[in-house]
Amino acid sequence: MVKLSPSVLAADFSNLSLVMDQCGEGGASMIHVDVMDGHFVPNITMGSVVVEGLRRATDLPLDVHLMIENPHQYITDFAKAGSDMITVHIETCSDVKKVIQMIRDEGVKPGITLRPSTPLNTIEEFVKDVDLVLVMTVEPGFSGQLFITEMMERIVAVRELVDGLGESRPDISVDGDVKLHNASEVVAAGADILVSGSGIFGTTDHVSTMKEFVKIG
Ligand code: DX5
Ligand code: ZN
Repeated sequence: MVKLSPSVLAADFSNLSLVMDQCGEGGASMIHVDVMDGHFVPNITMGSVVVEGLRRATDLPLDVHLMIENPHQYITDFAKAGSDMITVHIETCSDVKKVIQMIRDEGVKPGITLRPSTPLNTIEEFVKDVDLVLVMTVEPGFSGQLFITEMMERIVAVRELVDGLGESRPDISVDGDVKLHNASEVVAAGADILVSGSGIFGTTDHVSTMKEFVKIG
């Protein structure tokens, strides 16, 4: 069954506690938290204090996506704030293995991701060391962008890569303009986890949209 990771970035920040309740009711498997620093991406979003607040508002695992320079400087903060998974961008790590190990040492599941324009072979050697491979299907930075159709082939390629590993395979998560209309195609291409922001919080009934997503897999 596909797991759903609603992206809180597209939700109503005046009432995140209600949003967390809706995610629980809708059958979400985890909560996607987009951290942006205004350097790696042009947008600034939230820091570890928000993760800490979300931690108190839900028991669902927190799937933290770091779109920041020098992620190694912040791993401990995000781990202590209550992250269950921390995904870093290959473009931001000078020593990828070290950052992955830092995340593990904090008792958190590590994930790796890359911009759509970064060649897939840059992450290949690290796929066996992580619990999550995040395929970005939009340029990191904003919610509400259009799915880059060429990335559908990347999901298939990552699926092949992951299936070629032994038993401890990482999950494949797909992030960027995943909506009800394309979710089946994304799952068929190989996704285990669907991240969706505007595809959920841009609809009138968040809970029933989440339930529809969950049915797809
Ligand atoms: C983009 C973020 C995504 C984004 C998803 O940089 O990583 O997680 O919030 O939002 P939608 O689903 O609206 O594209
Ligand atoms: Zn994200």
